[in-house]
Amino acid sequence: MWNPVAVRLIWTLVLVASLTCSGFVVPSTAPASAPTVDLRVLSLSLEFFAFPGYMQLTSTTNCLAHLASLRGTPPAVRIGGTTQDRATYDPSLTAGVNYTVASSADAPDSLTYGPPFFTLAAQLQGPVTIGLNRQLNNQTNTLLAAKQAEKSVPNLLAFELGNEPEFYASGSPIIPPSGWSPAADGASQQAWQTALAPSLGQVFQAAVYLQFPTWSTAGLIPRLGPAINHTKTFSGHSYPQSACGGASTNLQSLMSHSGIVSYTSQYKSEAAAAHAQGKPYFLGETNSGRPGGGGISPTFGAALWIVDYVLQGALNGIDRLYFHQGTIGNCQYCFWGRFTTGAPWYGAYFVSQFLGTDSAALAALDDGTGGLAAYAVFSAAGAPLRVLVLNSAYYNGTGTRAVSHVALQGLPDAGGTVRVLRLTAPSAVARVDEGAAVTIGGGLTFAGDCSGVGTPALESVPVQGGAATVAVNASEAVILYL
Ligand SMILES: *[C@@H]1O[C@H](CO)[C@@H](O)[C@H](O)[C@H]1NC(C)=O
Ligand SMILES: *[C@@H]1O[C@H](CO)[C@@H](O)[C@H](O)[C@H]1NC(C)=O
Ligand SMILES: *[C@@H]1O[C@H](CO)[C@@H](O)[C@H](O)[C@H]1NC(C)=O
Ligand SMILES: *[C@@H]1O[C@H](CO)[C@@H](O)[C@H](O)[C@H]1NC(C)=O
Ligand SMILES: *[C@@H]1O[C@H](CO)[C@@H](O)[C@H](O)[C@H]1NC(C)=O
Repeated sequence: MWNPVAVRLIWTLVLVASLTCSGFVVPSTAPASAPTVDLRVLSLSLEFFAFPGYMQLTSTTNCLAHLASLRGTPPAVRIGGTTQDRATYDPSLTAGVNYTVASSADAPDSLTYGPPFFTLAAQLQGPVTIGLNRQLNNQTNTLLAAKQAEKSVPNLLAFELGNEPEFYASGSPIIPPSGWSPAADGASQQAWQTALAPSLGQVFQAAVYLQFPTWSTAGLIPRLGPAINHTKTFSGHSYPQSACGGASTNLQSLMSHSGIVSYTSQYKSEAAAAHAQGKPYFLGETNSGRPGGGGISPTFGAALWIVDYVLQGALNGIDRLYFHQGTIGNCQYCFWGRFTTGAPWYGAYFVSQFLGTDSAALAALDDGTGGLAAYAVFSAAGAPLRVLVLNSAYYNGTGTRAVSHVALQGLPDAGGTVRVLRLTAPSAVARVDEGAAVTIGGGLTFAGDCSGVGTPALESVPVQGGAATVAVNASEAVILYL
């Protein structure tokens, strides 16, 4: 006879084991389906009116330099956003931008910009995409600006003709008397590209929509007709959460691994549509929550979201994700600002470190339905280089922090240990701007100017017969160096 207490104990142990032990097998060679990840998969978008201000910050220089060094090439930068459609080019303006706002936290309702705007863009190390105005329907002015940009910016990648045109207010000069719709906008994008290409070349980033799937790259492509030949790149915008109009945001669902897998997969068809035309597909403006962030964006949970979102984006064929940085000093999701390098930055840094300079292929090791994410990157020769394990279980700082003991198999045995780099913080809601310690390898943090402070330490985990078990707390991530 079994003692009922013992039976209950065994059941409890089985349950606890099944809840906290998960395993992944690291393939010994890169799966044929594993895509190559663009060295600029994590890129930046800087709000148009704030761009000259960003170029005055040491933190901009330092953060971009970190990304360049981690990936071996400088990230791409897109300069644009809502204020690109409020901007008028003034060739005689001696400043980058000119505008007035009631409060420094505001974005201007209208602004002018001058030739120094493009001189600053030329200082960026990576390729630059510049957002131009279509809403005001002054093609002459937009062309004047674009010609100056082509003269000044040798690293120019593309021009956008308008930003999120689906939100153009009724009465906007570009909107015809017959009204605005995806079809009307498609005709307008086609007409503008056709008119401007003879002077500027095949340099346009098309679509630039947010409201997927009503407004989409796949929908725009047939509407562009022969102008598709003037299109260089396609862009969609993506914010998984919104605080607009008083909507509420939720950090737990933002960082949920299965949620990220499902959310990101909706862009797979968009990327495929662009690739079928031989053109790249970018999330040309993205971040956690609009506008500005709604409370969840400055948190460590958002840093974990960035790690998972970038990797899922790459697996779905998104060539680059441009993380938006808005009004300096009034921007919850920003990676950096004047005084603080925020928690989200740590996610950007960590995922760039995982991808590194030498990864030629990326594969997911989990099936995307649970709370644990696992990825591997492989060398050009197909050998596994690093594994990333992320525990997206939400820990809000109260109660016991759950820990997953993640069993990995298929590891090279060399040396009998594997080195582990940990990204952690006191909880998912931890914020650097509220004094919380977000750390990489226990010792690396970033000062307000985005310079690194301290040294990351690697943990050592034993490997036996190609197997190792690594503990990953709820709301935490690790990289294993194979
Ligand atoms: C800058 O804009 C303000 C209005 O916002 C205007 O009064 C001023 O003349 C402008 N300055 C220059 C140099 O254009
Ligand atoms: C359009 O831009 C041109 C060139 O900057 C300018 O001369 C013209 O006044 C603008 N038209 C309108 C209606 O603002
Ligand atoms: C577009 O470019 C392709 C490839 O260069 C060419 O074959 C095709 O004729 C072009 N289409 C138009 C409408 O110009
Ligand atoms: C944190 O989570 C616990 C349950 O795990 C809950 O009781 C508590 O209210 C939460 N606290 C906050 C601040 O959300
Ligand atoms: C991770 O979990 C372990 C075990 O629960 C705990 O000792 C440790 O403090 C946790 N780490 C952090 C950063 O909370």
